[in-house]
Amino acid sequence: MNAHRRIGPASLARLLGAWRGEGGGPAYRQLADGLRLLILDGRLPLDVVLPGERELAAVLEVSRTTVTAAMARLRDDGFLERRQGAGARTRLPAGPGARGGGLMALNEAEGLIDMASAAPPAADVVHAAFAAALAQLPAHLPNHGYSAVGLPVLREVIAERYTRRGLPTTPDQIMITSGAQHALALLIRLACGPGDRVVIDHPTYPHAIDAIQRASCRPVPVGLPDEGWDVEGLAAAFRQAGPRLAYFIADFQNPTGRWMSPDARGAIVQAAARARTTVIFDETLIDLWLDGPIQPYAFDARADTVVWLGSTGKSYWGGLRLGWIRADVPTIQALGPRRVSMDLGTPLLEQLAAAHLLSGDEASLVARRDMLRARRDVLIGLVRQKLPDWKVEAPPGGLSLWAELPAPVSTSLAAASERFGVRLAAGPRFGVDGAFERFLRLPYTQAPEVLADVVERLASAYGRLRPAPAGQRPQVGTLI
Ligand SMILES: Cc1ncc(COP(=O)(O)O)c(C=O)c1O
Repeated sequence: MNAHRRIGPASLARLLGAWRGEGGGPAYRQLADGLRLLILDGRLPLDVVLPGERELAAVLEVSRTTVTAAMARLRDDGFLERRQGAGARTRLPAGPGARGGGLMALNEAEGLIDMASAAPPAADVVHAAFAAALAQLPAHLPNHGYSAVGLPVLREVIAERYTRRGLPTTPDQIMITSGAQHALALLIRLACGPGDRVVIDHPTYPHAIDAIQRASCRPVPVGLPDEGWDVEGLAAAFRQAGPRLAYFIADFQNPTGRWMSPDARGAIVQAAARARTTVIFDETLIDLWLDGPIQPYAFDARADTVVWLGSTGKSYWGGLRLGWIRADVPTIQALGPRRVSMDLGTPLLEQLAAAHLLSGDEASLVARRDMLRARRDVLIGLVRQKLPDWKVEAPPGGLSLWAELPAPVSTSLAAASERFGVRLAAGPRFGVDGAFERFLRLPYTQAPEVLADVVERLASAYGRLRPAPAGQRPQVGTLI
């Protein structure tokens, strides 16, 4: 089977959008520029076979010569590769690998303000929840304390939460894990073998890409369009790649903060089911809606081809290390024996604390959302004032802005910013193979006065960057 994915002419035209501008020079150059940006931004993934020149010319309503000249230019610049009889494939010009290390430094980066991790401090209810859990602990001490699926009381609380939100769930459909990351790694282990494919959004949460690659599976990135999700493109990826899994963060996408409409969810789940692909919805950020409550299950979500991941990491505290999987009963039963080769269950005290948090009232979540909404608006105001050529929009939820820079300098800006005391996660960290150099994730989890300081420092670092001239290697700007 041909391992390369193809993009259809209509999908490519949709991604290109308004590529032709008044006074923007010859059409072939504008077309080449448009395609080059799509590749650099990751909206057109690498290793994808483009449509034939004749088809593309027809859908874009330009002459075939224009398309031929644009393709030739992209090949010369290293953005396309043509193999005999196989069509033109997207690639990046040679350069150092751009996906860096983890989002979180293993040890706190000394003296740097951390704008790389998007994780708020503990909610003030966390300490009280641990105190209550400690008081309950003696009742559990006579037992051995191991459970690969989790404490019944917590599974019940979580099942009720889904049922209340419109997705009827029983406790035997829940497995407690040590965080959503652990949950994802477990699911990949269960569903996939080496070489299997997993569809992801592009950009997406970097540690999801890591989990897929570390399991020797292949991420199949599908670019996010300007708004929403490219449902047709995803359906085509399901058909062409035959993935075992597809991973989405529908509420609210990390890093863009997008929210997926019920219609898109329904259509994606249906298309995935036709390809026998299991859809994973990672709901780690679901409590962090900032512009109005959401209805996550307003589509028919009962299909056994859908699995949900949850976590207390962002709603309450990352240090709890507590997450869960919601799936059909056979999947939960199959996960138990897989898990025991890795660990024998999640710590009991954390489970008891999580049961308190998840069955408590909403007051602490309301306060958290108020705090994040205020910080989001502060950060947007600061960026618009101090970095006016960056494009930032308010996401409806989540923890970060996905800033669009006017030039592909994200990696060099991240490098320069360290000299100004700020640690950043550059755009390519959120893609596969070095895309997203024109983007930067900016978390709004820090206090307003820290954000003000950060933006000053970023403006200084950015002011010292000069984008590399056109035609040179795109990843790195020049620090002067
Ligand atoms: C989308 C998403 N999923 C999972 C995680 C990790 O969650 P946990 O701390 O529960 O492992 C994060 C943390 O940033 C995240 O943003």
